[in-house]
Amino acid sequence: MAVPSLSCLLVLAGLSAASALWQEDLTPRRYVPLDERSMLRFAGNVSHKDHFRLLENDGSSLLIGARNIVFNISLTDLTERRDERLEWHSEPQDVQLCIMKGLDEEACHNYIRVLAKRGDDQLFVCGTNSYKPKCRHYQKHPDVGYLPKGGQRDGRGLCPYDPNHNSTVTFVDGETYAGTVADLASSDPLIYRDKRPLRTDKLELKQLNAPSFVGSMDYGDHVYFFFRETAVEYINCGKRSYSRVARVCKKDRGGPYKYKNKWTSFLKSRLNCSIPGEYPFYFDEIQSISTVQSGVYGGRPEEVLYAVFTTPVNSIPGSAICAFRMADLVDTFAGAFKHQEDMNSNWLPLKNSQVPSPRPGLCVNDSRQLSDAHLNFIQSHPLMDGAVPSLHGRPLLARTSLRHRFTKIAVDPQVQAADGTLYDVLFIGTDNGRVLKAVNAASGSGTVRAEPVLIEELEVLANGAAITNLLVSRQPDAPPRLIVVTDDEVRALPLHRCGDKALRCADCVRLQDPYCGWEAAGQRCAPVDSPAWPEGVAVVQNVSHGVHPHCPPSPDREPKILYQEATTPPSTASSPPEPCVCGSGSAPAGSGQDSDSDSDSDVRLERGRYNALERGHKVLDILEQPKASYPGAESQFVTGVEPAVYSAETLAVAVVTTCLLAMVIGFLAGWLFSRRCWRMRNEPYYETPHLDHQSKMKQLETAAAQGKPDNRCDQNFLNTEPPSVLLSKQINLVVNQTKNSNGKNANSAADNKPLQKVRKMYL
Ligand SMILES: *[C@@H]1O[C@H](CO)[C@@H](O)[C@H](O)[C@H]1NC(C)=O
Ligand SMILES: *[C@@H]1O[C@H](CO)[C@@H](O)[C@H](O)[C@H]1NC(C)=O
Ligand SMILES: *[C@@H]1O[C@H](CO)[C@@H](O)[C@H](O)[C@H]1NC(C)=O
Ligand SMILES: *[C@@H]1O[C@H](CO)[C@@H](O)[C@H](O)[C@H]1NC(C)=O
Ligand SMILES: *[C@@H]1O[C@H](CO)[C@@H](O)[C@H](O)[C@H]1NC(C)=O
Repeated sequence: MAVPSLSCLLVLAGLSAASALWQEDLTPRRYVPLDERSMLRFAGNVSHKDHFRLLENDGSSLLIGARNIVFNISLTDLTERRDERLEWHSEPQDVQLCIMKGLDEEACHNYIRVLAKRGDDQLFVCGTNSYKPKCRHYQKHPDVGYLPKGGQRDGRGLCPYDPNHNSTVTFVDGETYAGTVADLASSDPLIYRDKRPLRTDKLELKQLNAPSFVGSMDYGDHVYFFFRETAVEYINCGKRSYSRVARVCKKDRGGPYKYKNKWTSFLKSRLNCSIPGEYPFYFDEIQSISTVQSGVYGGRPEEVLYAVFTTPVNSIPGSAICAFRMADLVDTFAGAFKHQEDMNSNWLPLKNSQVPSPRPGLCVNDSRQLSDAHLNFIQSHPLMDGAVPSLHGRPLLARTSLRHRFTKIAVDPQVQAADGTLYDVLFIGTDNGRVLKAVNAASGSGTVRAEPVLIEELEVLANGAAITNLLVSRQPDAPPRLIVVTDDEVRALPLHRCGDKALRCADCVRLQDPYCGWEAAGQRCAPVDSPAWPEGVAVVQNVSHGVHPHCPPSPDREPKILYQEATTPPSTASSPPEPCVCGSGSAPAGSGQDSDSDSDSDVRLERGRYNALERGHKVLDILEQPKASYPGAESQFVTGVEPAVYSAETLAVAVVTTCLLAMVIGFLAGWLFSRRCWRMRNEPYYETPHLDHQSKMKQLETAAAQGKPDNRCDQNFLNTEPPSVLLSKQINLVVNQTKNSNGKNANSAADNKPLQKVRKMYL
């Protein structure tokens, strides 16, 4: 009982503290329903799932890894260049073996996951090869296309086994740096370099603990890896995932003796994407990163990286974008190391005097000369004490939505607005086929502040597929485009839709879109960089506030055209998760439907306002309505300075209520049945009533009154979280053995975790 209650209280405390600073769920200035005509599309082979992976973008073409194929797609019109196609099928015996291992036939193909250009006409390619990763060189021949050159080599450590696995790879000076897994069960994650091979320690959970890689890059003397993993330093009950950045030195040559083939420079820190407060609210699961952008932030030139974070899947659904200065990121690696005295003590910063010299993690000329003490130290202290702070000290943009989570981000960097201010335009992909377009309206203010504006929400995919990659393509012979990649589709769409629907000056300016401005002479909303702008004509635009003295407010207060509602409510593929993270079986009572029909949008507008005033009373309503449903309220925010803060506060109240309820129920259940289970142990019959949430209390009371036991006696024993780590280890071991004994292979994500944890047993 104590464990859930404690975590409840912590969550409560965190939420109520954070709520004051949690921004109102942003509503997009414009909702753009699916419009196939405005998009280009490449669908690959429609007869099966391709598992697309964007491998290379050389400015004029995209190379996309798929099943047995690398497609070369022209960025001009998104058509395939057939004569540039590279095909590589698994050998029949590899397919046979794959099927014999009991793997899904769908997976027993060669999914190309790694590709690097080597010179003008050579490619280095790796594929999953029916769960037996292989790499090869390919040479381009004028008439016949790509032919393999030389033999094939083992692709372990470079390429995953599972086409869905979240791996990352970066090429530096002809060498491949990969973050992936080196075995079929995904129980041996590693960061690996191929020539001069080095890897992370297989048995060292302090280095990598069930990581999910999201990106990597070459920066300065190091290669950086971004991933989320189970946090070793989180020693409270249960498990928690943290986001990390790790780095290795490019000059690393491994250590002497037992450190041969091991990194001697591997260090990592936590990435802090959180809403500040006495108990900060953390978005702990990094999902993707952007490329490094150079620009002016807060009036100073900086290098900045954007990243997408979410809350865990079984938690309050939230997504956030955080920006990090590269300088801050590098700085954390110069800070204190985190140190744990013994198995059960807290992780604390290590005093500087206890750090060996030269400082572990620095790039040394010959790492093979390093002393054992030095190497032992870095092996046992890979974690930095400080977390990388986010640029704004908080997310640039945060959203709670039951409909979607953010997956990817692409940046059109430093787009110049009409007044010369530079804005990073962010395109954010979701797991339900949407793209959000946002800017930080405070970009030109000279201070580092987050004032996010959601310009558009675009429906890009009718089937609501998850967006797996996004990029902004600017090339000379085609308009700039946003490229959207999913598992089996590639789409290209314009970066802006200035003229669409925003027909009046005020509406055009209110979009706050740096791409769009109002041309008074022509009475039209048009792209600012368009060559069609007549010479000397003034642009009416105001990205920072969305109002302009040149645009009289519209006489009719109903900007219907601008704020077009979604006509069909987006299908929620899976049932929405419960908004409470603690206590089992405490679903929100009477949670409404996702209905979004036009007819009640006015009602909902009024309700939204009402909620803003009567904070915390209509908790569930707010959770259910994350959309741009009340334009009137919208314009208030544009002109007014005060941000409307209510969704997290009400969220907090929701959590409080459900948590308290859960605690009460839990307590009652525990108390009653601990008594009754003892007393009723010898009862001849055993009733197992099926309970729903509404009738839970009643059933409880009745059961108590009649003195009947029910199945929750047992459930209670199971649900009581064992505080001891030992117990969970035993459970995992059993899982593993059962698997081995029936000869099945664990390739599903769900199976990975127990297997990985078993490694602890060998330590
Ligand atoms: C699509 O894949 C099937 C095998 O699944 C293959 O037979 C067919 O030729 C492919 N079509 C194209 C256009 O590549
Ligand atoms: C893709 O096709 C274009 C146009 O034919 C070609 O210039 C480019 O080299 C190709 N890319 C690769 C990696 O083959
Ligand atoms: C890869 O990442 C996605 C998005 O976070 C997640 O849904 C998926 O389960 C991951 N895949 C594996 C094999 O872990
Ligand atoms: C993360 O950042 C927040 C806000 O800047 C701060 O309050 C918190 O202490 C930081 N957390 C860590 C672990 O550094
Ligand atoms: C490391 O090597 C570089 C170039 O090879 C040299 O200039 C430098 O002095 C060396 N540093 C040390 C500490 O030996």
